[in-house]
Amino acid sequence: MKISFRLIISLLIATAVVVLLFSYVQTQVEERKLSEDLSLRSRLVGKSFKEAIEPFLEQTEHPGRIRQFMEKFKGHTRLIGIFVKLKGEKLIAYPDGMPEQAASFGELDQIEQRDQIIERREKWDGKDVLFYALPIEKEETVVGAVGVIHDRSYITRRIKESWKRLAVTFSILALVLSITTVVVIRWSITGPIAKIADWAKKARMGEASPSPPASGQEKGEMERLVFEIGHMASSLKAARLDLYEQAQTKQFQDSVWNKERLKEYLRSKLGNTPLFVVANREPYIHRKKGDELECIVPASGVVTALDPVLQATGGVWLAHGSGNADRETVNQDGKLLVPPWNPSYSLKRVWLDEAEEKGYYYGFSNEGLWPLCHITHTRPVFRIEDWEQYQKVNRKFADSLLKELSDAPPVILIQDYHFALVPKMIKDERPDAKVALFWHIPWPNPEAFGICPWQEEILEGMLGSDLIGFHTQFHCNNFLDTIDRVLESRIDWTVFGVTRSGKISYVRPFPISIAASNGQVAADAQEEELKKLKKTYGLEGKKIGVGVDRIDYTKGLLERFRAIERTLEKYPQYKGKLVFVELGAPSRALIPSYQNHVREVEELVQKINDRFRDGDYLPILFLKEHHGHERIQSFYRLADFCLVSSLHDGMNLVAKEFVAARDDENGVLILSRFAGASRELQSALQINPYHIEGTAEAIYQALTMLPEEKQERMKRMRTIIQERNVYRWAAEFVTELVKSF
Ligand code: F6P
Repeated sequence: MKISFRLIISLLIATAVVVLLFSYVQTQVEERKLSEDLSLRSRLVGKSFKEAIEPFLEQTEHPGRIRQFMEKFKGHTRLIGIFVKLKGEKLIAYPDGMPEQAASFGELDQIEQRDQIIERREKWDGKDVLFYALPIEKEETVVGAVGVIHDRSYITRRIKESWKRLAVTFSILALVLSITTVVVIRWSITGPIAKIADWAKKARMGEASPSPPASGQEKGEMERLVFEIGHMASSLKAARLDLYEQAQTKQFQDSVWNKERLKEYLRSKLGNTPLFVVANREPYIHRKKGDELECIVPASGVVTALDPVLQATGGVWLAHGSGNADRETVNQDGKLLVPPWNPSYSLKRVWLDEAEEKGYYYGFSNEGLWPLCHITHTRPVFRIEDWEQYQKVNRKFADSLLKELSDAPPVILIQDYHFALVPKMIKDERPDAKVALFWHIPWPNPEAFGICPWQEEILEGMLGSDLIGFHTQFHCNNFLDTIDRVLESRIDWTVFGVTRSGKISYVRPFPISIAASNGQVAADAQEEELKKLKKTYGLEGKKIGVGVDRIDYTKGLLERFRAIERTLEKYPQYKGKLVFVELGAPSRALIPSYQNHVREVEELVQKINDRFRDGDYLPILFLKEHHGHERIQSFYRLADFCLVSSLHDGMNLVAKEFVAARDDENGVLILSRFAGASRELQSALQINPYHIEGTAEAIYQALTMLPEEKQERMKRMRTIIQERNVYRWAAEFVTELVKSF
């Protein structure tokens, strides 16, 4: 029997018993009251009649007078009849013939006492009547009796009507109670239970969202039930996730990932679904110098990581066409196949005008979000006009991407802080799309992020993604804390999922990497080339340190050069012997904070070089230009140590590239502990770049390290990088994205 039916029946029985009891008592009271009224009336009529006729007894013609007086009572309310019986005389009755029908009439003669009365209910002429009689006195002696009969059938009628009214009231009450019960039960018990049951079924089959559905009605016990079931399911899901991840880790660890393996793997996962990448920076820039057209690969972590992935999988990369010869090298759709020397995937260039580039790229992205997310004490600048351009350009990229999509559900990987709004824009148009956002820079704590005046819009846009990736768990936690603080949503910390407006986004760490899959990556940096380089830069017989960076205030260049200076001060035996080569690629040169930074760095280099200059010897070679892949590889191989001194960095792929380049298992990596890479590369000499003395010590340690120790450290780091390369990163990222459906 259904719970609502049982509850209604029980409620109706209980109500019926209460209503019956109540009605019984009420009708009894009413009947008593009406009877008492009638009795009072009978007594009054009897008494006043008696008092009125007693004087007539003196007169001889009293029977006539009494009869006459009786007629005055004609029409008296509810009075049926009056009669007088005087001892030894004939009965006087009104109306005529009445005495024969009154059962108590015969008892009148028996009234002998002055205080004797008769009052009784009886049937008369088929009616329910009240018979009342009292003595008639003459000189204080009873000489007869007077009787009155009142109709009391109206009392029975009234009581019947009361019962009828109560029956109607009860029916209405029963109806209202039943409806209310059904509604309340459905709303607060069976409805939520049915939803939870559906959800539990899905959870058992691994299809449900991480938390039970919230109807908003769960209070008290129901709230506890939802809470407990949610927890049980979370534990189940976490256990499943554990098993899945164990299996996954095993699968991912089984052998080294490379281009071919990724290609096969993604084909098995995605079939023929093409991969779309949206990133601000294009992987290949066409530039014209005079009449010469050149194609360069920019210094960008996103490019270093994702170009090999797309070369393996094919697909489309949407990026800002920023080169001065970019328009000359595309077809009418703005597309070309890249890399030009080995076409593997499509690059679709999106054109921005000067105002758009200024507001969206230089302004909001790099004067706002970049310093906001990097804790390097450079003030973020948020201007309304930059924010407007940022929204406009995000829309432009979203529209350009939407044009590329076929009817099949696409897989879209959006890159970085330039496109926080794109996930939602895509998802609004194509809910079937699998959308992932990878945030390549750190995510600060909620207080720091709260500086952004449009933080809600940014977070809302990001939550359009099914999966949001960061380099470290720490950044995931910061992001979830920020969501918790800013947006109304439900966060499930057991699976790291955010549910908002019924849609879930998972937030997970995926430490990005490079393409190194075996020890041969740097084989193109030939010995001859190295010799040539040494000669060109006067590096023969020198101890060489190297740094490779975009010139950015987050990279800790000032701290790095001060540490070189301090090393030379502290360990003068290296004067004239130690050369630090900085391959610095100019970056974001229109931004004042970058211009100031370049100036400061150049002045510092000049000062240090002036201080330690000796003939041709300069301790720091600051090579400020764009450097190609080969040259960077050569410097990595030449170096005794590579110094990465980021003040804050999402990952820093230079550290990984240096390790990958050292197939000779030589060289020392000195790595800032504020770079994401330091979590994986524990065998590097880890430094706090703000602590100049400490960094100088690390440089000295690198310069004096025994070859066996160098080899041991380098070996361990190379194993990590070969195992956790970017092919594995892409496989894990896409697997997680597809799994979230
Ligand atoms: O880390 C964020 C990032 O977008 C990386 O791709 C790269 O290291 C750098 O910033 C590139 O900056 P830009 O594209 O502004 O030159």
